[in-house]
Amino acid sequence: MDTLKVDLGNDLSYNVHIGELGNIDFSNRKVAIITNPKVCGLHITKLTNKLKASDVFIISIKDGEQYKNIDTVNEILNNLFNHKLDRKSVLISLGGGVVGDICGFVAGIYQRGIDFINIPTTLLSQVDASVGGKTGINNSYGKNLIGLFNQPKAVHIDTIFLSTLASREYNAGMAEIIKMAVAFDLEFFNWLQSNTINNDENLKKAIKKSIELKIKIVQEDEKEMGVRAKLNYGHTFCHIVEMMSNYTTYLHGEAVSIGIIMANTLALDIGLITQNEFNQILSLLKMYDLPTKYYIKDIDSFYDKFFLDKKSMQGKISFILPINIGNSTIKDDITKQQIQKSLLRYNDYANNIN
Ligand code: GLY
Repeated sequence: MDTLKVDLGNDLSYNVHIGELGNIDFSNRKVAIITNPKVCGLHITKLTNKLKASDVFIISIKDGEQYKNIDTVNEILNNLFNHKLDRKSVLISLGGGVVGDICGFVAGIYQRGIDFINIPTTLLSQVDASVGGKTGINNSYGKNLIGLFNQPKAVHIDTIFLSTLASREYNAGMAEIIKMAVAFDLEFFNWLQSNTINNDENLKKAIKKSIELKIKIVQEDEKEMGVRAKLNYGHTFCHIVEMMSNYTTYLHGEAVSIGIIMANTLALDIGLITQNEFNQILSLLKMYDLPTKYYIKDIDSFYDKFFLDKKSMQGKISFILPINIGNSTIKDDITKQQIQKSLLRYNDYANNIN
C-alpha cells in the first residue's frame, strides 16, 4: 500500500491510499454510497464488505456526463433527507468522474457540508478527478460551471476496480495521464513512450506518478488562483467539444485527447512546440486509440464559447499550452485572429483522413 498525503497545510489535508481497499470505519455514522447501476452491480459488495457504519444506504444515479446536473443533485438531496442523514453522516462516491464530482458537490451543500470520501473506479478518476477537491455539475451554459472546491476526507485507489473497465474507458484515462506528462514531466513522457500500460506494475506506476504530479500542484494552489490552471491543459477546448456534442459522443478523456491536439495546434502556430513534438504527442495519444479529430463547424461560435470558460477573466481568454514537452504555460494574450487561424488549421488536420 502506498499512501500519499495531500498536505494543504490545514485540517483539510488528507491521504490518497493506493493499493487493495482496506477497512473503512465509520462506526456510529450513517453512510450513503453514491454510485451508478453498472458500478453498483459490479463492485458494491467489495465496498460494503469493508465498510463499518451505523447504517448504509445506496443511492444509484443515472450513468453519464449528461446526468451531471441539478436534477440529479436534487434527487440525491431528497434521498439524503428521506434517509435522515445528519451532519455527522458521510457520503462515499463509488464510480467514475461523474459520480465523484456530483457526490463531492452534494456533500458540500447538504446541511452546509458533510464529509465524503472518494473510491474511484475508472482510470480517469483514479489519476485525476478523485484528487484535488474539484466538485460540480454542468448546465446549459457549459461544463462544470457550477461547483465548489471541496476536499474529500480520503481517496482509496484500488486497481482491482479497473479489471472490469471497457478498453474505451481505460484509454480515456490514459488521456489524462498523457496530459500530466506533457504539461509537467518530460521523463514521465519518455517512459510512457517506451512502456505500454498493459500490466499491473506499469499501471500502478503511471497512476502513482500522475497523482504525485497532481498533488504537488494542488498543494501549491488549491483554489486555482495560478499554477493549478495548468492541470486544465486541453480542457478549454475539450469542454466545448463535450458540450457541443451533448456530452454523449465522447468520454471525457476522449474529448481531452481532442482538446490536447487543438491546444497543440495553437502551441505549434505560436512557436511553443516543434512539429516533431506535436507528432510525438499525437503518436502517444494514438497508441491508446484516442480520437484526435473533431470538425469545428462554426469557428465563430466555437470561439465565443471560450469566454464562458472559468479561466477567462475580464474579457481575456486563457489557454494552457505546452512549452516543448514536460513544461507548460498559461497564455492570455493570443489575438482573436491567431486563435481563429489555429482553429482553421486544426480543421484542416481534422478533415485529413490520414
Ligand atoms: N482536473 C483538473 C484539476 O483538478 O484541477
